[in-house]
Amino acid sequence: MQDCAAVRSDMAEYWNIESGHEEAIMTFFDNRPVADVVLESEITEKDFVTSGRGSADVKNTLKRLGIGPEILRRVAVASYEAEINVAAHSNGGKMESSIFDDMIHLRFTDRGPGIANIEQAMVPGYSTADDLVREMGFGAGLGLPNIKKNSDALHIVSDYGKPTMVEIVIFY
Ligand SMILES: Nc1ncnc2c1ncn2[C@@H]1O[C@H](COP(=O)(O)OP(=O)(O)OP(=O)(O)O)[C@@H](O)[C@H]1O
Ligand SMILES: [Mg+2]
Repeated sequence: MQDCAAVRSDMAEYWNIESGHEEAIMTFFDNRPVADVVLESEITEKDFVTSGRGSADVKNTLKRLGIGPEILRRVAVASYEAEINVAAHSNGGKMESSIFDDMIHLRFTDRGPGIANIEQAMVPGYSTADDLVREMGFGAGLGLPNIKKNSDALHIVSDYGKPTMVEIVIFY
């Protein structure tokens, strides 16, 4: 698996944490514990045939662990949108899913070209999707708002000409 360039502290950052979860989220990100189950998969640029499989694997694993349908739905939506974004808008990357007994942490890292303005990218309807991506049925500009809506925490680190990292936390 190819390495994705490291995100750096001088890059732009976006956080959304649903109210009530601030302390648990900050404790998690401060300590970054290692999960019992970690799934990893490669995401190939403009490959809309295999992109989505990583998200499906995560959903199936959680289902086997007995996680309820509403949480499965939220994980599947957030994970799929983030996975497709790497395929649609970046030079490829990977997804890593860390499954804990009370939450899941999803991390998507890619090889650029990055997001110039994360706040703008979060606005519903904003999209830079090219013709190919639109022909595949994507590009409504609703993926990131959907991830925000379905996650307890969303953390994005990126910048113009840099890699992007998207982290999602969902409690069960
Ligand atoms: N991994 C990424 N790398 C670079 N740019 C990204 C990445 N993810 C999102 N973006 C930028 O943020 C914009 C908004 O993303 P969002 O997922 O909301 O919409 P979309 O992917 O364009 O359309 P939709 O998700 O509705 O199919 C994208 O059009 C793109 O400009
Ligand atoms: Mg999208």
